[in-house]
Amino acid sequence: MPQLVFATSNAHKTEEVAAILGSAWQVEDLRAHPGITLDEETGDTFEANAIIKAVSGSRGVPGLLVLADDSGLEVDALGGAPGVRSARYAGETANAADNRAKLKAELAKKAMYARFKGRFHCCMVLARDGEVLHISHGSVEGRLITQEQGEGGFGYDSLFIPDGFTETFGVLPAETKNQLSHRARALAAMKKKLASLR
Ligand code: IMP
Repeated sequence: MPQLVFATSNAHKTEEVAAILGSAWQVEDLRAHPGITLDEETGDTFEANAIIKAVSGSRGVPGLLVLADDSGLEVDALGGAPGVRSARYAGETANAADNRAKLKAELAKKAMYARFKGRFHCCMVLARDGEVLHISHGSVEGRLITQEQGEGGFGYDSLFIPDGFTETFGVLPAETKNQLSHRARALAAMKKKLASLR
């Protein structure tokens, strides 16, 4: 099975990517490649940060294909926040629960909105030996709620209801999320390129 190094230490993301790609690829993340060090995410966009991760990650494993994902939540009522700062919304050392608490507090200040429209966005970058091979994007539209629902998923999942559904990604089965998520759509847009490299 061809090997794909996914430049993340977020086990939830790896589980999703492995499930979406299925048996076509052996997906390993930074836990299996502790020698890889990623450069700091200094970009202002998902794409800039995904390129930084893919390029720096690929230099640590010569000859191997490296995939990086930079993703986050954009809420219209918050001017697109938390956006590229999704992982650190409540501060540099914040965990997911801190970030959700901050999001709920920010939404509470916007009570004039009847509905909080938003989306998850993902940029995927494929690289090898420091060279970008392909870039793709995917997003899933939905709305934010202010009371958490469900224990599944990670990050902001328990606060996000995708369009066409009545339950959050924290409640919906992983198979459902993996069919329509920002990550699934970004990977679908990269499928042809990946197939050509197997
Ligand atoms: P990154 O690891 O720098 O790309 O940061 C991604 C952050 O965006 C995560 O820490 C989560 O806060 C949020 N995020 C991205 N994708 C998802 C998702 O599928 N569900 C919930 N939160 C997500």
